Amino acid sequence: MNKYILGIESSCDDTSAAVINNGRLLSNVIANQKVHESYGGVVPELASREHQKNIIPVVHEAIRMAGIDKKELSAVAFTCGPGLLGSLLVGVSFAKGFALSLNIPMIQVNHLQAHVLAHFIQQDDNKNATPEFPFLCLLVSGGNSQIILVREWNDMEVIGQTIDDAAGEAFDKCAKIMNLPYPGGPAVDKLAKKGNPDVFKLNKPRIPDYNYSFSGLKTSFLYLLRDRLKENPNFVEEHRENLCATLQKTVVEILMQKLRKAAKDLKIDEVAIAGGVSANSGLRCAIEEHAAKYGWKIHIPPLKFTTDNAAMVAICGYFQYLAGEFVGMECQPFPRIVM
Ligand code: KG4
Repeated sequence: MNKYILGIESSCDDTSAAVINNGRLLSNVIANQKVHESYGGVVPELASREHQKNIIPVVHEAIRMAGIDKKELSAVAFTCGPGLLGSLLVGVSFAKGFALSLNIPMIQVNHLQAHVLAHFIQQDDNKNATPEFPFLCLLVSGGNSQIILVREWNDMEVIGQTIDDAAGEAFDKCAKIMNLPYPGGPAVDKLAKKGNPDVFKLNKPRIPDYNYSFSGLKTSFLYLLRDRLKENPNFVEEHRENLCATLQKTVVEILMQKLRKAAKDLKIDEVAIAGGVSANSGLRCAIEEHAAKYGWKIHIPPLKFTTDNAAMVAICGYFQYLAGEFVGMECQPFPRIVM
């Protein structure tokens, strides 16, 4: 029987809605918020207001593009957390009203689990095989850097994570020091392609297990610039490409070292990447090199599913729908990580 799930994502600064039919994506609409660019980072209060403006037109457009009537929807799935409380509240409140008006069930989705399950979205133009369980997923975004052991779609264990900054945060903060626009990750990636990654050297963390740390790298980058700027006030302008290449290479090496260790220790050769930083060309290249060297079966998401989107929320909601995992009107957003 046809099941149509509406997914809603509003955890940070993207308002998104998507419709999935029995696991196949029909529409995925995303409204980005440009308002934060001039602040160099997401301003939570402005993000909530933008979500309020965007949510109705975005949902309307997703249903229209799916070619269905809203009465055909089987359930509404929404990101319940983690994320910015004010942003989450907009999506959760909208979902409650929408589900109530249509008398359909509600499904609360964990944003991080949704990033991982983005690999299971079926599309006409996506011929990639879905990951087989168990697999390892490196989930790297602006707020998280985790290695997740995925035993089943609903059985995920975080075996390593950052103890301070996330990888995306390191890209964004270092980019800001170089006066690059926000978010810095894509800008660093672009410039890194033209630079030499071996001109400068940055410190790498030494922490145990499968955990990450990126705050030391950021400080090391800051000190490098501070010292060189004393000698040459044009240092950043003259070396931006090499600095970006060095930063990207170091972040990727840090990420891959722990991922390699986890794959070896757990004897798992099925490896996926997810989250905004999984768009990074250096990381994508490194994963492919590891596949060739260690025989990994790798899963790299299409670029449109790397950053926040509702398609991943809808696919997660679809799995939960089949498992009968619904919530009532009492559900509340959870800003902090629970996984
Ligand atoms: O998953 P996401 O859209 O949002 C959350 O943080 O949940 O990830 C956004 C992060 C930002 O830090 C951004 O700079 C980073 O992903 N990012 C990238 C690239 N594209 C986005 N970082 C490095 N290289 C990229 N190409």
